[in-house]
Amino acid sequence: MSLTAEPREHVELGDLNTLHVPAVARFYWEVHDAAELKAALAWAEAKSLGVLILGGGSNLVFNGDFSGLVIRMCVPGRYWEEARNHEATLVLGAGENWHEAVIYAARAGYRGIENLALIPGTAGAAPVQNIGAYGVELCDTLESVTALDRRNGEVVSLRNEECGFAYRDSLFKQSPGRYAIIEVRLRLSRDTPLQLGYRDLEEYLGDRDRAALSVIDVAEAIMAIRRRKLPDPNLIPNAGSFFKNPVVAVSDYERLQTTYPDIVGYTQPRGVKLAAAWLIDQCGWKGFRNQRVGVHNRQALVLINHSGGTGRDILELAEKIRETVKAKFGVELEMEPGVVGQGGESG
Ligand code: FAD
Ligand code: EPU
Repeated sequence: MSLTAEPREHVELGDLNTLHVPAVARFYWEVHDAAELKAALAWAEAKSLGVLILGGGSNLVFNGDFSGLVIRMCVPGRYWEEARNHEATLVLGAGENWHEAVIYAARAGYRGIENLALIPGTAGAAPVQNIGAYGVELCDTLESVTALDRRNGEVVSLRNEECGFAYRDSLFKQSPGRYAIIEVRLRLSRDTPLQLGYRDLEEYLGDRDRAALSVIDVAEAIMAIRRRKLPDPNLIPNAGSFFKNPVVAVSDYERLQTTYPDIVGYTQPRGVKLAAAWLIDQCGWKGFRNQRVGVHNRQALVLINHSGGTGRDILELAEKIRETVKAKFGVELEMEPGVVGQGGESG
């Protein structure tokens, strides 16, 4: 039995979201296993309360207080399963810290998630937006997800191909509130090739002998690159990239290229993915700040809570950025973090 096996009332969430915007949860419950999760959900249902499933709060904007029950996923557990032929399955409880799991796997010599080092948050949230960085996405190694399906109260196991993974997207994001992820399983290997092709990583590695690199070397390189560009949320509150990189039709990309020959785009199977950071940067937002919030001066895709900003301040700035990008380039930016209002989460 956990120490917090019942809800608390009026809990401050300022330190439970990496933007550090103020918000109060009417009710708050930390759950450590499937039984506690079920109990918390049944309790909320009996009281007709909305529910927010919370991990590390690194991809959420609280736009005011939350009038329902916040369930913080604290399910522990990190172990290896089915190790054979240089492969093994890493099983992670939803509440495990993602970055620590990456380092744990890398220290054991298993490859596959090292490029995802230093992404904040929990293992349970990683499938929600199919976290990705430096040429790797979670779906490249995810074997299955164990989740509570709130439609019928059953604990289900969803295989990779059932999770609807796409760029910053998944079944879990498409069906908000339906699944509470309890555990994830990752299939890792000791001899899968290291993914070294992302431009920043190539530049960072310079003339180092690629064949001599260990999985830990790569994780450390990723950490060094990220520390140069992305603000540490413990020091400068932020939620990582605030917008997704928009995918446009090839014809739109070519049209933009005639006016903006330097525009950054990556060819995809279904169009061209534009660098939202470049678009925002070109609109002059990089380094912008007002009294409370602003745009990071080394990464235009990162919005920052400089001093006492609220979720509303952040969302108002985001809207202004969206409008200027739309006016200049005709491109719609879609927010990456979810927005939590009075009743529940949207977006
Ligand atoms: P939260 O913010 O708590 O929740 C995010 C969403 O997942 C919410 O909808 C929540 O309801 C849902 N959720 C959380 N846990 C569960 C669960 N167990 N079951 C069901 N739903 C759940 N993301 C990337 O993809 N790549 C990056 O490179 C990256 N870099 C970042 C850098 C910084 C500095 C920051 C602050 C963020 C970055 N992010 C990045 C975004 C963020 O770290 C990821 O989205 C992360 O997976 C969120 O985890 P979390 O536990 O904080 O989730
Ligand atoms: N750029 C600018 N101005 C800037 C920043 C970048 O012009 O201020 C240009 C860069 O020169 C580069 C391009 O934009 O040509 C892309 O920049 P970067 O490589 O930094 O990546 P990104 O597209 O901005 C994405 C993810 C990050 C992930 C990195 C590394 C999205 C929305 N963001 O950022 O994920 O860490 O690639 O793979 O896909 C997150 O999701 O929260 C996140 C941080």
